[in-house]
Amino acid sequence: MNKLELFLWGVLPYIILTIFVTAIIWRYVTNPFGWTSKSSEMLEKRILRWGSLFFHYGLIAVFCGHIAGLLVPVSVYRSLGISDEAYHLAAIIGGLPAGIVTFIGVLILLYRRFAVARIRLTSSAGDMIALVVLAIVIFSGLAVTSANALSHSGFDYRTTINPWVRSVLVFQPDPELMQTVPLGFKIHILTTFVLYLVIPFTRLVHLFSLPLRYLRRSYVLYRRRGEAGAEAAFHDRQNRKEAI
Ligand code: HEM
Repeated sequence: MNKLELFLWGVLPYIILTIFVTAIIWRYVTNPFGWTSKSSEMLEKRILRWGSLFFHYGLIAVFCGHIAGLLVPVSVYRSLGISDEAYHLAAIIGGLPAGIVTFIGVLILLYRRFAVARIRLTSSAGDMIALVVLAIVIFSGLAVTSANALSHSGFDYRTTINPWVRSVLVFQPDPELMQTVPLGFKIHILTTFVLYLVIPFTRLVHLFSLPLRYLRRSYVLYRRRGEAGAEAAFHDRQNRKEAI
C-alpha cells in the first residue's frame, strides 16, 4: 500500500471529521438563528413539492440501506441465516430504486434552482454548490452500484468497505481493507468527503435538526391581502369545519 493510499484511508477521514465537527459547532455557537434550510417555498412551490418529496423520501431509504450495508457486520447477517446472495439481491432491489428516486429528486431541485429565475436570483453560492455536490455523490453511488451488479465481479463491500468504515469510527483505522476496493467505490467515498466539508457551511446543516415531522406537515399557506385574501380564508375555514 503506497503513501497516498495510507493518507486517503488512514488520515484524510480524520481531517474531514475534525473540520466537519469543528465547523458545525462554530456555526451553531456563532449563528444559531442561521441554522435553517431557508425555505424558498414562497417563491416557487409546484416544482419544489415534487423535488423535495422524491429527494427526502429517497434519501431516508438510501440512509437506512447504508446503515444496514456499512455498519452491520456481515457475520450478523450470516448468523441470522441470511445468505450472501439473498442480501445482495435485497440490496439491489431496495437500494437501486431508492437511489434512482433520490437522484430524480436532486435533478428536479437542481433544475428549479438554476432554471427558475426568482429562485436563481435569491440563491447563494452555497445553495447551488450543496445541490451540485449532492448530485455528484448520489450519481457516483448509483453508477458504482449498477456497475458492480452488472459486472458480477464478486466484490463484496461488506468484507472490505464495511469493516474499514467501522475501523475509522472506532479510531483504529485499517487502510489495508481498502486495498482491493474498485476505483468506483473509492471515488464515491471521496465525493462524500467533499459533501461533509460542504454541509456545515450551507443550508444542509438542517439535517441535524432531524426535521422528520416536516415531511408530514401542511404546506405553508400564503394569501393575498384584501378582499381576495379574506374570501380565501373564509373558504379555508369552511373546508376545515366540514373536514371535522
Ligand atoms: C463514507 C460514507 C459512504 C460510504 C462508505 C458509501 C458506500 C456505498 C456503497 C458501498 C454503496 C453500494 C451499495 C450496493 O452496492 O448495494 C453505495 C451506494 C450508494 N450511495 Fe453511498 N456511501 C457513503 C455515503 C453516501 C452518501 C452521504 C450518499 C448520499 C447523500 C450516498 C448515496 C449513495 C447512493 C444513492 C447509492 C446507490 C444505491 C443506494 O441507493 O443505496 N452515499 N454507497
